Amino acid sequence: MKFKNKSIIKLVFLLLIISMLYFIVNKNSNKSLRVLAEKQDILIGTSIASLPFLKDKEYRSVISREFNVVTIENDLKFARVHPQKETYNFLIPDLMVEYGIENNISIRGHTLVWHNQIPDWITQVQYSKDELKSILKSHIQTVVKRYKGKIYAWDVVNEAIDNDGNLRRNIWMNVIGPEYIELAFRWAHEADPNAQLYYNDYGNESINSKSDATYKLMKKLKANGVPIDGVGFQFHTSINTKHNYTEIKNNFSRFNKLGLKTEITELDVKVQNSPLSMERKLEEQAKVYSNLLEVCLKAEKCNTFITWGVTDKYTWIPMYTGNEDYPLLFTDDYKKKPSYDVIYNKLQND
Ligand code: G3I
Repeated sequence: MKFKNKSIIKLVFLLLIISMLYFIVNKNSNKSLRVLAEKQDILIGTSIASLPFLKDKEYRSVISREFNVVTIENDLKFARVHPQKETYNFLIPDLMVEYGIENNISIRGHTLVWHNQIPDWITQVQYSKDELKSILKSHIQTVVKRYKGKIYAWDVVNEAIDNDGNLRRNIWMNVIGPEYIELAFRWAHEADPNAQLYYNDYGNESINSKSDATYKLMKKLKANGVPIDGVGFQFHTSINTKHNYTEIKNNFSRFNKLGLKTEITELDVKVQNSPLSMERKLEEQAKVYSNLLEVCLKAEKCNTFITWGVTDKYTWIPMYTGNEDYPLLFTDDYKKKPSYDVIYNKLQND
């Protein structure tokens, strides 16, 4: 009898330990942005870059823990995915899409038509209008069809408007003419009728000549029955920028009234060129992240909030500005920054 009692006590003790462990593990696994975002039907994400994706295990595990959407940062750009006329290079995007499916992460395709990253086999040859149209159509449809049903949204046209509000004089505009924009959306829609299709740009976040021009263009596309679902606002910004959040809200609202979604697609917040201490810089940065998330959560049609990278270690900013910077949610060694915490708290309390 004594022996039996001892065994029962041991068993109860063991069960207690197991349930405590279960509680701890479960508690930690629930602590992530995506868990909170999913409760609110929101997509919270990052861009995903090939180098860390292939080489850094922690990068992949942080992404799958924290985010439920990723944008392929470089590997679907024209020159990367279609470097020669007869050659497509789908190796990396295939792996990323597979990783997304395995981890239940939605994938955004970026980008089908852009003035950058166009391969030499296009820029070095004088194609006629019809030839370039056929090249672009075939490019768009080959890429979109490959990921039909797997990439849920595409940045179809990227940065087609100049800061002064005119259409950018890029190769597509110069050879095909302004209709290249409308055609690109129609061709992408033909290739995957269920994919969401976006116009994506920077500098259009507030009300200004660029966003006015974007609004006019979107209105025209909608009136012409062009299949377009929304506008991506990149938000490559800085703690030094004086953000007028009411204006951003009003800007989103006018696009929403056209029936278009407004998404935050490439957010990062630079801290360079500021006299503040690092601690203060990171506090200011957190305020920007928090205020922009607030704008998105309150907008009529904004359910996607994507940062342009996971960790400061791999941000594109130093390559571009020549200065070191810390624009993202995680430090070089994947510690959560104040910007992470404010996003977490906002998602939890909203
Ligand atoms: O992978 C090569 C590497 O092999 C080579 O040694 C190295 C030398 O320069 O270059 C590496 O590629 C670079 C790539 O980033 C990966 O780091 C390219 O040169 C560089 O041009 C490329 O820059 C990208 C840039 O777009 C141009 O495509 C950035 O990573 C990417 O963050 C940036 O993203 C754009 C969005 O697509 C559109 N909105 C603006 C945003 C920021 O510019």
